[in-house]
Amino acid sequence: MGRMPSTIGLIFVTLVASLLGGPCRGQDPAPEEVYAWKSIDYNWLAPEDRQIAIDNGNYIPENNALIGVKVWGSYAYVNVARWLPGVPSTLNIVPSFPMEELPLSTPLSPFPSWEMQKEGNCSAIQYIQGMEIDSRGRMWALDVGRRYFFTSNPDNSCPPKLLLLDLDKGGILLHTFVFPEDVVSYDKSFLNDLVVHEGIGTDWYAYITDAKGTSGAIVVYSLSQDKAWRIEDEKSMKAEEGNASEATIGGRMAKLTANIDGIALTPKDEDNPQVFYSPLGSFHLYSIPTSVLQNPPSDPMEIRSSITDWGNRTSQGDGMMMDSFGNLYFGLLGEDGFAKWPAEARTNSTLSEAVVTKDPVRLQWVDGFGFDNAKRELWLVSNRLQNIQAKDVNLKEINYRLFRIHTATKSYQYNRYSS
Ligand SMILES: *[C@@H]1O[C@H](CO)[C@@H](O)[C@H](O)[C@H]1NC(C)=O
Ligand SMILES: *[C@@H]1O[C@H](CO)[C@@H](O)[C@H](O)[C@H]1NC(C)=O
Ligand SMILES: *[C@@H]1O[C@H](CO)[C@@H](O)[C@H](O)[C@H]1NC(C)=O
Ligand SMILES: *[C@@H]1O[C@H](CO)[C@@H](O)[C@H](O)[C@H]1NC(C)=O
Repeated sequence: MGRMPSTIGLIFVTLVASLLGGPCRGQDPAPEEVYAWKSIDYNWLAPEDRQIAIDNGNYIPENNALIGVKVWGSYAYVNVARWLPGVPSTLNIVPSFPMEELPLSTPLSPFPSWEMQKEGNCSAIQYIQGMEIDSRGRMWALDVGRRYFFTSNPDNSCPPKLLLLDLDKGGILLHTFVFPEDVVSYDKSFLNDLVVHEGIGTDWYAYITDAKGTSGAIVVYSLSQDKAWRIEDEKSMKAEEGNASEATIGGRMAKLTANIDGIALTPKDEDNPQVFYSPLGSFHLYSIPTSVLQNPPSDPMEIRSSITDWGNRTSQGDGMMMDSFGNLYFGLLGEDGFAKWPAEARTNSTLSEAVVTKDPVRLQWVDGFGFDNAKRELWLVSNRLQNIQAKDVNLKEINYRLFRIHTATKSYQYNRYSS
């Protein structure tokens, strides 16, 4: 069951590099595939539970899509979407090291427990679409609340909430914040992704994308005030019509009609911190100062005038993440790959996005990113979501993959030269 480490070697295109920032100016090495699954399976409490779950519809393998990854200590935390029924566990772990002796398709272990994955129990976790881990080992887990909204019968019985879990204490629940309905709709929202902004003392914020609603929004949560508010901008947060809202991924046309989706934050020591974002259905990359998000002006035009449009990427992207040097990583959905937008491009307009790797088989729909800060590695998920969107997942092929790549940088939550 052991395996050799494998790197993308055959088809990748590694352009980039001499231009790029970061501590070493060389190119990023090729990503190493650390796990690969035809379908996502779990460590069941008892062996017979798997068959029982299949028989009663609680486990439908083709409906389990791996979407994100974050790393803390010896575990990678991975989430599985509940767009469709038959997903027994939404938040899970797999070892982040040593994994050389584990099968490539190691089953996921529900985290913090099976009990916390219970659908319909609004005190448990319903559906984690995005999560972040802060420098103190707290997971900020974004529970969409709503489930099955890729079907004609969405379940809106539980509200959207933000959970803080202590990862060094087995994931005990430190805090729950239930979003009020006037900030996040209980039947039209889709809380998608988030970044965590460490402030002075307890003055921490989460900036969260809501892909649904008239235009989509950034939802701001203040930990010190235990309060949330919503900032909308139709021009930059709404999916565009036409070419921007579709892409050919792995040879299949996919609809990219979701509004604001990927979100990233500049490094901790940035003087004027900015949040970067993009709708799924857009080539553009935008940014807004966190000072505006924290104290939004009441005039929408004043909000709009604070937003920077950085222009078009070569394709649309889903998840995105900045490292401690301000380099931004994002997927290129229509190119079956991902790119790095160097920190220097913000001040030097002759620089632009550079493809890190393309692979028409293994990098179909690059989704979530995360850092292993101890090892200075970037981790990422590819998941062929175009097939789940078409309700045509081929379980004989590998659909879900986790990669890591040694960038020699940490996540945006750290200073550039932090040890
Ligand atoms: C709901 O979940 C919470 C948290 O896991 C648990 O304490 C509680 O017992 C559950 N309630 C029911 C009715 O299962
Ligand atoms: C945009 O879409 C039109 C048809 O809808 C197509 O003819 C055109 O080539 C597309 N352009 C790009 C840049 O993809
Ligand atoms: C950016 O992409 C849009 C399609 O969304 C296209 O209409 C527009 O011409 C592009 N702009 C530039 C500057 O390339
Ligand atoms: C901008 O980047 C180009 C390409 O690397 C480089 O030649 C130029 O010196 C840079 N300009 C500044 C002002 O750093």
